[in-house]
Formats: sequence, C-alpha cells, structure tokens
Amino acid sequence: MHSLGILLSGRGSNFVAIADSIDAGRIPDARISVVISNKAESPGMATARARGLNALVIPSKGKAREEHDREVVAALKQNGVELVCLAGYMRLLSPWFVQQFPHRILNIHPSLLPAFPGLEAQEQAFAYGVKVSGCTVHFVDEELDHGAIIVQKAVPVLDSDDEHTLAARILEQEHIAYTEAITTVLSGKFQVNGRRFRNI
Ligand code: GAR
Repeated sequence: MHSLGILLSGRGSNFVAIADSIDAGRIPDARISVVISNKAESPGMATARARGLNALVIPSKGKAREEHDREVVAALKQNGVELVCLAGYMRLLSPWFVQQFPHRILNIHPSLLPAFPGLEAQEQAFAYGVKVSGCTVHFVDEELDHGAIIVQKAVPVLDSDDEHTLAARILEQEHIAYTEAITTVLSGKFQVNGRRFRNI
C-alpha cells in the first residue's frame, strides 16, 4: 500500500480530487497517511478532518523556511509517506526538503509551464492574451514551478472567457491530471532523463 502525504494551504480541491480517486480505485493501492497545512484555517483541513483523515496543522508563520520544513518532513516520515503531493501548498520548499524525497514530490500548477510560473497563473495567462493555457503536474526541484514535467493538459481560452471561467475549466483538468500523474509515478513505470519524463 502506497502512503501519500498531502500538503495544502487553502481550498483543497486538488486534495479532494486525489482522495476521491483513491476511494474510487482510480489510484490503486494507495492511501492518504497525512494531510498537512501551514494554515490552521484552510478549508482543505476542515475537509480532511471531515473525511476522517490524519490532518496536521504545522504553522509556518515566524519560522525560518528550513526550520518549518524540518517539522513538516519529520511528520511526513513519522507517517511513512512515500510520495508527497503539493496541492495548493503556497510555500517554496527548501533545497533540504527536496533532497529528502528525490523524485517523490509532485506539484500541480495552473498553467502550461514554463509559461506563467508563480502566483495567479490563470490571471497571468488571461492578461497575456494566450489562446491556449492549461495545467502541469511536475516533480518538485529546488526552483519554483520548475521540475521535470509528468503530465500536462491543454485548455483553450475562449472568446467568452474571463479569468474566472478560464480558471474553472483549468481546475477541472487539474483534477484529472493529478490522478494520472500520481498513478504513473506510483506504478514506477517511468524514466527521467534530465528534464524529460517518459512512461515506460
Ligand atoms: C490550484 O489551482 C493549483 O494549481 C494552484 O493553487 C490552486 C489550489 O487549489 N497552485 C499553484 O499555483 C502552485 N504554484 P486547490 O486548493 O483547490 O487545490
């Protein structure tokens, strides 16, 4: 049984999509061992508790990055976590954290990277006037929104869109993409050469 650890800071819809995929057998042989948030009030944590999951708040405020990361990594390891899934976790991981889980930390980002890294990617894409955007699931490395790409989904930008309708359609694809990426990584049937991830 694969143990997943989820890190989130906010709404938690990607976390719910992952939990639903596990419950429905779309992500086979897996369980969520711990859900960790740096924010006590995040709606995602209320959902985690309501689902009966092990939900831990580890506040980041006032702590140096690595000090906080050491607490988070200790909790992940205590819970036997094999794969860490960032699901709207709005903190950059320290290099030390990344080194604890080589090719074992995934992130989802609401753009077709390397376009529009950082905050409010959907708004950035809409304001830029792109005709296609989407989402990316990638391994986390020491740079922001940067590691090898596992899955991308393209979403057309419609003439009728505003940034909210575009973000909503991207979010639907995020939920599909994250399940696909987790399933592939847990299967072990992949190779990574430099930035290039391929299914084998
Ligand atoms: C998602 O759109 C996710 O892609 C984005 O935050 C949102 C979290 O929503 N992440 C990033 O921008 C990371 N750079 P959720 O809490 O409903 O999953």
